[in-house]
Amino acid sequence: MEKINKIKEEVLELINNSNEMELLQQLKIKFLGKKGQIQELMSEMKSLSNDEKPKFGQMVNELKQEVTKIIEEKVKELEAIELIKKLEREKIDVTLPSYKQVIGTTHPLMNIKKEIEDLFIGLGYTVAEGPEVEYDLYNFERANIPADHPARDMQDTFYINPEVLLRTHTTAIQTRELEKANGKLPIKVICPGKVYRRDDDDATHSHQFMQAEGLVVAENITLADLKGTLQFLADAMFGKGRKLRFRPSYFQFTEPSVEIDVSCHICGGKGCSVCKNTGYIEILGAGMVHPNVLEMAGFDSTKCSGFAFGIGLERVAMLKYGIDDIRNFYTNDVRFLKTFDRFD
Ligand code: PHE
Repeated sequence: MEKINKIKEEVLELINNSNEMELLQQLKIKFLGKKGQIQELMSEMKSLSNDEKPKFGQMVNELKQEVTKIIEEKVKELEAIELIKKLEREKIDVTLPSYKQVIGTTHPLMNIKKEIEDLFIGLGYTVAEGPEVEYDLYNFERANIPADHPARDMQDTFYINPEVLLRTHTTAIQTRELEKANGKLPIKVICPGKVYRRDDDDATHSHQFMQAEGLVVAENITLADLKGTLQFLADAMFGKGRKLRFRPSYFQFTEPSVEIDVSCHICGGKGCSVCKNTGYIEILGAGMVHPNVLEMAGFDSTKCSGFAFGIGLERVAMLKYGIDDIRNFYTNDVRFLKTFDRFD
């Protein structure tokens, strides 16, 4: 009896003084564990008479229950205190002024990209993309620009190794799409993407810029189809009634090749600072897909033909939004980008 009471007292005292979970755990082991004090009492049963045994057993059991209850209650108490402390720590004062949520805007180039994609999706094209780190094969070889051809100098290239480079034009997507078609016609794709050239950056040049390439290959495609398509593009991008001017040009992957100017959307063709008093603005390169390009991709160039064009997205955005420095697109000044909210 004495021992039992002593244990009870000890437990109560220890519990009252232990305000940490860890200590409680230790107490649990000390009293209730397999080698704990209460278990030890049980083993003393042997030395008692048969009369005393049940009474003693009952008392020890009661003690066990009591100690378990005391510890559990203490655990609950500590948990409650812990919760209150946590709530205190994490208290949010909703009356404090909040931080301003800065919400971004779509980048003006992304607007133009989407606009062009939507236009051509409306004409039944699909959108195709390709890798920016590209094989020389797709960027040059398949575009009818063999190694050591002087035309490669025109597109100062970032080479990664002799076979791998940063693509210099979206024509690399065009040659991939031709190969992917695996001889199947028609092909109607619009291929937007970033391209890279070793240019010195200034107001009108950037070593990274964006193009969108259009490609149509089928039977009996002619320059007239190209003309109609580009008229549609110019009207949609710069307003109805644009005049197009086709100038003979040279690209290795098209024959014939043309450069296309659009009548100035600012002065309507009279001449102003935007069109440098010429009334026209150069916007893209195009032409009929060179038979070599078709043949290299496995097409019979006597049975099909195609047109292709490549348009610079920065140039379109600059003209459309009146931006005079291409570097604005890449410095990511939120104040600049914010001004395009209204174009969404
Ligand atoms: N790839 C040419 C360039 O980057 C543009 C172009 C594309 C020209 C398709 C003709 C046909 O300048």
